[in-house]
Amino acid sequence: MNNNIVLIGFMGCGKTTVGQELAQRLNYKFLDTDQYIEEKEGTTIRNIFSEKGEVYFRNLETSTLKELVEETKESVVSSGGGLPLRQENAKLLQKLGFVIYLKVSKDTVVERLKGDTTRPLLQGDNPAKKVEELLCFRDPIYEVGAHMAISVDNKTVEEIADEIIRNYETMQHKNKED
Ligand code: S3P
Repeated sequence: MNNNIVLIGFMGCGKTTVGQELAQRLNYKFLDTDQYIEEKEGTTIRNIFSEKGEVYFRNLETSTLKELVEETKESVVSSGGGLPLRQENAKLLQKLGFVIYLKVSKDTVVERLKGDTTRPLLQGDNPAKKVEELLCFRDPIYEVGAHMAISVDNKTVEEIADEIIRNYETMQHKNKED
């Protein structure tokens, strides 16, 4: 396993905000797979979905992950919400680093993403229903794909970062002893 911290979880769970806080505190680099893909493709996720389709985007996620496993060290990586769903990706994520699932409730997601137009999967008449269905399907996959899960509802970014750093340091300490 590389010595990175990898954040996974549903859209709106705070992967980017928490990831940036962690990177600052640990003096690690910060990398967001969505931003990485947008920069590489020179366009937004929304445009990639509408012009090339979801499968094209999912393939970009897998190729990005393969690159990151080879190159990335001492970084906090925030991954797109759908990235751990492919089994191949879930394995690569575990190779990339210590994987943490930021577990969020449906209500928090709906509240945070009210009016959001950047997430193609949540557009349409009833985004709350889409959140519910997707979250229900994905939650067990996130659980299995992570080394640990942390509930994020009603916690501050600082509290979540404290909890992650405590666990990350314990994990590093154990690895040294083995
Ligand atoms: C997606 C989540 C988004 C982005 C894309 C698809 C998903 O990332 O990758 O819209 O399938 O959950 P965030 O989780 O950063 O919003």
